Amino acid sequence: MQPLIQTPPPGPKARAILERDARVISQCMVREYPLVLEKAQGVNLWDVDGNRYLDFSAGIAVMNVGWNHPAVVQAITGQASRLTHGAFLDFCSEVPVLLAEKIVDFMPEGMNRVYLSNSGAESVEAALKLARHHTRRKYFIAFYGAFHGRTYGAMSLTSSNVIQRQYFGPFLPVIHVPYPNPYRPLGLEHDTCDLDTMAVLEEEVFRTEVAPDEVAAIFVEPVQGEGGYIVPPPAFLRRLRDLCDEHGILLVADEVQSGCFRTGTFLACEQFGVTPDIVCLSKAVGGGLPLGMTIASDAIMNWPRGSHASTFGGNNLACAAALAALNIMSEPGFGPQVQQTGAHLLAGLRDLKNKYQLIGDVRGLGLMCGMELVRDRATKMPAREERRQILAQAFQRGLTMLPAGLSTIRFCPPLTIGKDDIDTGLAILDGVLSKEGR
Ligand SMILES: Cc1ncc(COP(=O)(O)O)c(C=O)c1O
Repeated sequence: MQPLIQTPPPGPKARAILERDARVISQCMVREYPLVLEKAQGVNLWDVDGNRYLDFSAGIAVMNVGWNHPAVVQAITGQASRLTHGAFLDFCSEVPVLLAEKIVDFMPEGMNRVYLSNSGAESVEAALKLARHHTRRKYFIAFYGAFHGRTYGAMSLTSSNVIQRQYFGPFLPVIHVPYPNPYRPLGLEHDTCDLDTMAVLEEEVFRTEVAPDEVAAIFVEPVQGEGGYIVPPPAFLRRLRDLCDEHGILLVADEVQSGCFRTGTFLACEQFGVTPDIVCLSKAVGGGLPLGMTIASDAIMNWPRGSHASTFGGNNLACAAALAALNIMSEPGFGPQVQQTGAHLLAGLRDLKNKYQLIGDVRGLGLMCGMELVRDRATKMPAREERRQILAQAFQRGLTMLPAGLSTIRFCPPLTIGKDDIDTGLAILDGVLSKEGR
C-alpha cells in the first residue's frame, strides 16, 4: 500500500502536540523527525493529521509481529479485564509461568530458567548481577559500539555514543574492546577481522589490564544494533565462546534487538552455532508491552530467594501480550519467511549501492539490515548530515526509518512485511537518494 501524505508533516495537530511536549516532557530523547503518532496497524502508521506512513522501524525493532496484531490486541484486552498487575514477586499466577514455559521452548537445550522484568536495560542488569553472583568475579568485557541500555550497569557496558555516558560516571568496571566490523576492520583483513578483536583481548587486555579469572562475563550483541547494524565474521562468536570456556567467563548474548526472529532465527546466535550462558531479551518479546527476560540454565540461575526482583516483573498484561506474540512467531515458516524477505530487502539495498556513491556498505541478517553512508568510498568518512537529510525527506514522503551508529540507516520493519511493501519503501528511498545520493 502506498503511503499517503495529505498534509506535509508536521501538520497543525502534530505541531500543537509537539509544542506541548516541549513544555512538559523531559527533552532528553533524540527524535530524527517530528512524527506524532495516532494509530498503527500492520506495517502502517498514521499521524494525528491523518497521514499514513510505511514503517521500516517497527518502533525500534519491537513490533515484530506487526503493529496492533489482532491476536495481541485480543490477548491484552482479555487479560486487562481479568488481572493486570499480579504482584508476581509476592503471589504466583499462571500467565507468567506459561510465558516462561513458552520461551524456554525457543531456547537452546538447557537454558530453562527465566527471570522476568520490564525492559531491555533491566534484562541486562539482571544478567550483570547474575554473572557476578555466580562467578564471584568483578569485571566485565563489552564492545565499542555496544548498546545495552541506560541504567547504571547497562550504561557501563554501553559504548555507542559518548553523550550517553558524559557526566554520568563512575561506572562499573567494564573493559571495552573493538567489535569486529568487516567494513571498518582494525587491521587489513575484512573477513577475519574478529581475529584482531581476539588478539586485543588475549594479548592486551588479559596481559596488561585484567586477569581473565577476574572477569565475570563478556556481553555481546550477536549482531551489533545501535552501533550500526554490524554483522561480525561468522567465526567471531565461536571464538568468544572458546575464550570464555577456557577462562570460566560467562558469555552473555544481548538479543534484545536481534532476538525474536529479527535475523531469521529466534536468536541470532543460533546462526553462529553458539550457545551462550545467559540470554537477554526484551523489545519484540513483549508484543508491544514493556517486558524483559533474562534466561539461563538452572546451574547458573541458582541465586537465592531475595537476591533480585522487581515489582512489575511478570506483569500479567505484558506476559499475555508476549504469549500472543510468541504464538504468532511459532507459526510454521515464520523464520524462513523472514529470511526470504530479508534477502529481498538486502538485494534491493545492494542495487541502491550500485547506483549511489553515497552508500559505502550494505549488510544484514534477516530483517536486520544496515546501509552505511559515506562522503567518499575511499576514506569512508561518515556522511552524518546526509543521513539526517535522507531520513527527514523519506519521512516527508511517507517512509519511517531510523538511524544507527555514526552514519548508518537501519532497516528493521515488522517481520510480517511483504515484498511489495519492501519494494514500495525502496522506491521511496531511491527517490530521496536521487536528490541526495550523488
Ligand atoms: C541490544 C540492546 N540491549 C539493550 C537495550 C536497552 O533496552 P531498553 O531501551 O528497553 O532499556 C537495547 C535498546 O535499544 C538494545 O538494542
